[in-house]
Amino acid sequence: MKKIKVIYATRTGHSKKIALAIAKKLEVKAYNINENPSLKDTDTLFIVAGIYGRRNLIKLGTFLEKNINDGDIKNAALITSCASKMHRQKEVRKILESKGINILDEFICQGNFLLFGLGHPNKNDIDSASNFALKYKE
Ligand SMILES: Cc1cc2nc3c(=O)[nH]c(=O)nc-3n(C[C@H](O)[C@H](O)[C@H](O)COP(=O)(O)O)c2cc1C
Repeated sequence: MKKIKVIYATRTGHSKKIALAIAKKLEVKAYNINENPSLKDTDTLFIVAGIYGRRNLIKLGTFLEKNINDGDIKNAALITSCASKMHRQKEVRKILESKGINILDEFICQGNFLLFGLGHPNKNDIDSASNFALKYKE
């Protein structure tokens, strides 16, 4: 059975909501990076995170840089919460690539900012993110 972990970094709570739903589907726990979860011995790491000013939170990059050692993680899947549906986790991707981690895919789950994406993430968005994650369970 695959060793799966779900972590999230959030400012306004959407990524937490999405991460909890994904973790429930995958039958694991979701960890806020503030809890400093261990990333050792992971087949697939799900990283759920929002975008602010087109960027990842700096503290997420710092956490990954500090906590991923050689051979800890085989694969990563990104679930990105952003209002525009256009922005990606560029900084996280760069860090993972520099550490030789295979990135399976990046799923965009719409969030909101001011009037953009009002009402998102909704149930449909969260169900779609959970179904994306389920593909990588086995
Ligand atoms: C200060 C701020 C800046 C944001 N900048 C962007 C942005 O550049 N592009 C985008 O698509 N969404 C942007 N958003 C929307 C967030 O990415 C979106 O609401 C996301 O769901 C937030 O995730 P969180 O609730 O886990 O913090 C921004 C939101 C905030 C609060």
